[in-house]
Amino acid sequence: MNHQTVLVLDFGGQYNQLIARRVRECNVYCEVHPYRMSMEQIKALNPIGIIFTGGPNSVYDANSPHIEPAVFELGIPVLGLCYGCQLMAYTLGGKVETAPAREFGKTHTKFDTDSLLFAGLPSEGIVWMSHNDYVDQLPEGFVSVAHTDDCPVAAMQNVERRLYGMQYHPEVLHTENGMQMLHNFLYRVCGAQGDWTMEDYARTAIENLKNKIGSGKVLLALSGGVDSSVAAMLLSKAVGNQLTCIFVDHGLLRKNEGDEVEAVFGNMGINFIRVNAQKRFLDRLAGVTDPEAKRKIIGEEFIRVFEDESKKIGTVDFLAQGTIYPDVIESGTGDAAVIKSHHNVGGLPDYVDFKEIVEPLRLLFKDEVRALGTELGLADYLVWRQPFPGPGLAVRVIGEITEDKLALLRDADYIFREEIAKAGLDRSINQYFAVLTDMRSVGVMGDGRTYDYTLALRGVTTTDFMTADWAKIPYEVLEKASNRIINEVGHISRIVYDITSKPPATIEWE
Ligand code: XMP
Repeated sequence: MNHQTVLVLDFGGQYNQLIARRVRECNVYCEVHPYRMSMEQIKALNPIGIIFTGGPNSVYDANSPHIEPAVFELGIPVLGLCYGCQLMAYTLGGKVETAPAREFGKTHTKFDTDSLLFAGLPSEGIVWMSHNDYVDQLPEGFVSVAHTDDCPVAAMQNVERRLYGMQYHPEVLHTENGMQMLHNFLYRVCGAQGDWTMEDYARTAIENLKNKIGSGKVLLALSGGVDSSVAAMLLSKAVGNQLTCIFVDHGLLRKNEGDEVEAVFGNMGINFIRVNAQKRFLDRLAGVTDPEAKRKIIGEEFIRVFEDESKKIGTVDFLAQGTIYPDVIESGTGDAAVIKSHHNVGGLPDYVDFKEIVEPLRLLFKDEVRALGTELGLADYLVWRQPFPGPGLAVRVIGEITEDKLALLRDADYIFREEIAKAGLDRSINQYFAVLTDMRSVGVMGDGRTYDYTLALRGVTTTDFMTADWAKIPYEVLEKASNRIINEVGHISRIVYDITSKPPATIEWE
């Protein structure tokens, strides 16, 4: 694809993906690569600018990541952020020291508005700092262009060599005008033209898929989630009825979900196969209460169903996957503990006969996948569908799963979602759902005693789903949902709202 590219070199900072997203929000395409990338690889990418991310180290740590000084000789503008700024100073002969006062959080800062980085912006403002070390002595040819009470070099530049550094994090929303500062670097220093738009992307992606696939047959597992739905849409525009989508309805979907997916994709001129495998799944799940066992069974059964269906189709040329960019960027760590086994993440399926893999969303962040979906005309309720776990409601019915419990949960969950949407909270709360606990409690209804289920409501705000806050849903909304659920669903006599964040809890209850 013919776009200007910015290279984000990853030094292990927690905000590396955020930096890349911000750059793309400025309509400039960028890629994140590990800092070990060779000079040849960098040149081959032909970037218009390079951004060094932050990182947890000090430049003097024995194992801290370093970079060849040659990167500054390429004639490509570089912006170092936090550790990246210190590394630039250190590598070019400046001095980095432990700061006498460690700065963390919102910090009042003064800027030199003659610098291209701060052109058109106020001369004072708040930035987000997070550092122990700072640049104590500038490298030759550099000047300081921002400072705080405790940090004489909050930003630095060498205009002639087009090298810039910021000690703080412009990518974080707490930094006032941070986005504009990145914009300035991209447009005023690197000469960006803003050629990364979804309209362009959609057009080129469709063209490329057409070329790649030719007259071949493509198979896609469609879950109805955002990623696979957008992938299906894109592929259908590229190759029409050469695409077959298999949608496995495992009976663990939310209310109406299976029919909604069928309504959209069943009439699109592609081969859409809905496999009604509800009974198969429920039979295998009968009597199973352990969460990990449920996940394993569903994962295995899913593969079997998919295998059975794909056998009917025979060999396909391409297997399409909805992999998105965050899955592609090297995460750097390989030893994180397994908290839950997510069955739909991981290696290539070896149970389908295919020649090649095609991943049409491989370059996109989640928000870009949504924008692309909208661009392609996908209905809002699919584009904005909240994440839904592969094992579905099986991990939201605590304990044994039965048809009756699933029916109760579906109705309760539907009402809760409806009330959240009515209150206009459906885009600000990132995931919200009901959980049917296996606890019963005593209640009173009319004049009689009841002994019915306890339902839990859960809502979280998060950006990455690795950590999450419980959502502060207004009491009136909870009250309305609670009243309606009790009155309309039956067999639920108590409703609780989950006020734990992640960690220590997880988002799902199982
Ligand atoms: P947890 O519960 O681990 O959830 O905090 C984090 C995010 O992952 C989703 N989730 C799953 N997704 N298969 C999936 O595809 C799974 O088994 C699974 N378990 C949890 C969860 O909904 C949340 O968005």
